[in-house]
Amino acid sequence: MDKLRIMSVFGTRPEAIKMAPLVKELSTREDIESICCVTAQHRQMLDSVLEVFDLKPDWDLDIMTPRQTLSTITSKCLTGMDEAIDTLKPNLILVHGDTSTTFAGALSAFYHQVPVGHVEAGLRTYDKYSPFPEEMNRKLVSAIADLYFCPTINNKNNLLREGITQGLFVTGNTVIDALKTTVREDYHFATEELNHLPYGEKKILLVTCHRRENYGEPMKQIMLALRQIAQEHEDVELVYPVHLSPVVREAVDTYLRGAPRTHLIDPLPADEMHNLMARSYLVLTDSRGLQEEAPALGKPVLVLRRETERPEAVEAGTVRLAGVDQKTIVEMASSLIDSPEAYAEMAHAVNPYGDGHACRRIADAIEWYFGRRQERPADYTGK
Ligand code: UD1
Repeated sequence: MDKLRIMSVFGTRPEAIKMAPLVKELSTREDIESICCVTAQHRQMLDSVLEVFDLKPDWDLDIMTPRQTLSTITSKCLTGMDEAIDTLKPNLILVHGDTSTTFAGALSAFYHQVPVGHVEAGLRTYDKYSPFPEEMNRKLVSAIADLYFCPTINNKNNLLREGITQGLFVTGNTVIDALKTTVREDYHFATEELNHLPYGEKKILLVTCHRRENYGEPMKQIMLALRQIAQEHEDVELVYPVHLSPVVREAVDTYLRGAPRTHLIDPLPADEMHNLMARSYLVLTDSRGLQEEAPALGKPVLVLRRETERPEAVEAGTVRLAGVDQKTIVEMASSLIDSPEAYAEMAHAVNPYGDGHACRRIADAIEWYFGRRQERPADYTGK
């Protein structure tokens, strides 16, 4: 029997971190040829992940431009994918999450009548414009996909409620698989500055903020809140790896640069980020992946958004929504910085997002779908 050609498509940093362990797992299977196609919606930030996980793309669309719009990303991906699919002839295309790459990858697969597996399926806020455009991207991909790899049972239930009943698997999130390979106690940072932070003496606050729906006034409020937190708490050091988006960089330069004990650094490779998080006191972020990684490391998270599609860690008590209002963010952060009781209540390790075996379950499910394996893989139960 011919090998199954499974093509993983991704283009941004978080997709790459979460797809890397899956591409690797697939390449260990005897009956699978694991192919990797990157759109490079992110160039530098994607390349840094490829390097950390030692991945060599078979196809690179190289679409990124400065201040790219959603339409240019989508149309360039669609056009580029035509040739990739015609040449590589995959039996299944895997897309991840909810970016423009994800949507265009799934749509392109559909145009070529190639089945689609959606990794990290079933997340929802039910607010069409938040996160923007991701909520719509993932809904549109749900309409196209044939296989749904849901991180949690909650995600599967979202799809069931939408009438999607076939091809559902609960696998855990592949980010937990990735985390298991990167975090080490004796880790030495390649970013020299990070080896000299006063871990233990000061409370390290790890910050990220880049989301499109936060552009403008919300981002201003967040930056001013961070500045105030740094000014009012002498026992904290802020570390903020700043996204390469020019819009984000402008906001940081205008409202935050120059705040005391604040380290504005370039985006970090995935392994550096994971290890920095493991040594931090608190995470303030509008990123989605960090909301999954930090709870597994026992780090409290304040989410700089109005809503989240990841309620599991909120329910487990390690993540709280802080919103995008300066006053509320400062109050919530100050309470966690000043009150050991409030901190202890949030700082316990929970793993609602996976047990580190998501990739094995996904690869098994693919083999089962194509009749190469007899047993359907058992769902991840969260225990
Ligand atoms: C994209 C995803 C978002 C994901 C985020 C992670 C969409 C619609 N959004 O948002 O879901 O959470 O990635 O970062 O797909 N840039 C560089 N170098 C890089 C990366 C980006 O210069 O390595 C610049 C680009 O020129 C671009 C800007 O940053 O203009 C924003 O990137 P883009 O992919 O358009 O959106 P993100 O906000 O990163």
